[in-house]
Amino acid sequence: MQAERVQTVKTEFPRNADDPLRVAVVGAGSRAMNYSAFALREPSLMKVVAVAEPDEYRRVKAAQEHSIPETCCFASVQEMMARHPDFDAVINGTMDADHVPTSLPILQAGYNLLLEKPISLNKKDLFQLYDAARQYGNKVMICHVLRYAPFYVEIKKRILAGDIGEVISLQTEENVSYHHLAAAYIRGKWNNSDVCGSKILMAKCCHDLDILTWLKSGIAPRYISSFGGLKQFRAERAPAGSGQRCLADCQIESNCPYSARKHYLDSGLWPKYAWRSIEQLEDKDSEVVKTKSLCSDNPFGRCVWHCDNNVEDHQCVMIEFEDGTTAVHTLNGGTAKPCRVIHVIGTRGEIYGITEDQCLMVRHPDPRKGHEFSEEKVLIPEAAEEHGGGDCRLVADFVRTMKGQQPSVSCTELADSIYGHLIGFAAEEAMRDRKVVEISKI
Ligand SMILES: NC(=O)c1ccc[n+]([C@@H]2O[C@H](COP(=O)([O-])OP(=O)(O)OC[C@H]3O[C@@H](n4cnc5c(N)ncnc54)[C@H](O)[C@@H]3O)[C@@H](O)[C@H]2O)c1
Repeated sequence: MQAERVQTVKTEFPRNADDPLRVAVVGAGSRAMNYSAFALREPSLMKVVAVAEPDEYRRVKAAQEHSIPETCCFASVQEMMARHPDFDAVINGTMDADHVPTSLPILQAGYNLLLEKPISLNKKDLFQLYDAARQYGNKVMICHVLRYAPFYVEIKKRILAGDIGEVISLQTEENVSYHHLAAAYIRGKWNNSDVCGSKILMAKCCHDLDILTWLKSGIAPRYISSFGGLKQFRAERAPAGSGQRCLADCQIESNCPYSARKHYLDSGLWPKYAWRSIEQLEDKDSEVVKTKSLCSDNPFGRCVWHCDNNVEDHQCVMIEFEDGTTAVHTLNGGTAKPCRVIHVIGTRGEIYGITEDQCLMVRHPDPRKGHEFSEEKVLIPEAAEEHGGGDCRLVADFVRTMKGQQPSVSCTELADSIYGHLIGFAAEEAMRDRKVVEISKI
């Protein structure tokens, strides 16, 4: 990173408060295009006007979807910044290892940024980005979509309102289902930390660690311990009769819960991951083409016991905050049912909820004879949507914040996201070295 500011081309917003925010997309993959879809639904609020994406098929597709002129389509961030087309802010949806290198030129040029999580692969890069944003005065929001899910917003509001008194203990669970674990962390692109850069805790539970620090906002996490490992999905545990590929040489495919045929062909699960390697083919939707790819070189056709995965399939993290509050997060990989669970205990009451149940329970002690406790059931219908309905709300808040309007209670400014990441990196160190790691106050 260059020490001095090289140029400032940022356009101050609003030129006109009613104009849509004009956004450049960096990395036109599945996440960035998901956020970009907001521009198609709300054209008066946001417009995608430029794209930087090395993959020609994806670049052209993004350009077509958002009517981006060819002069504003680039194969790299460097090319985009050199030509500086006219835009107000950037959405960076590149993969984990590309976040910092692709964001620094954007920050140096003075643009504000919506950046996918995890911010970086390690603490050093995290602070490099943080320092750059402070040096160049950029607003950086991190895609902690869960903070925008009404389920978690309700918990935050209850805590802020003092409904359960002072928070003294938190427990969260993320239950990653067997088919999700297989698609992302056994066969998929976050399966090997030597290739992807992230371990599963940061790739998957970055949001949960962020939720814990957000709910304890203003109080720093201090000590971290963690245990976990890759127990189940190892070659030596492969069942008798299994092969290298489900559709090619497996004798137990019809009885296997991890069958690629059942997940990707029969049930159509995780299509954005499973069919990535054939997405540019004209006949990509043909069952024959899909089957052939699973039989040959598609990584999603591999047996889950014979992949190149090295990330954990279960891990727990313990946290002590500087005020003595404790928190425990557990990542359970390979569960039958996907869901997140949270239990927050305060000095005057508690909140308990399971996202898939679409409700929260707010309980208070009630020592009257025959009562024991009172219970309020708060219905949250949006909790069943992907990320609890957070994706769209996050982009709307990004647009508001970029226009200088009042951000929401969920706003994910960079400084607020640092501690969640520090917990994640400390937990990886604690698990690896079997020790308690202390986090320095920032
Ligand atoms: N917020 C969430 O809940 C959530 C959920 C899933 C994934 N993610 C994160 O989102 C990120 C993107 O995931 P995805 O599934 O969309 O990935 P993806 O692979 O679909 O998209 C990444 C895109 O970046 C492009 N790219 C690679 N190098 C680039 C460069 N130097 N400059 C510009 N573009 C480049 C790739 O060609 C690809 O199209 C990951 O970091 C992932 O961890 C976040």
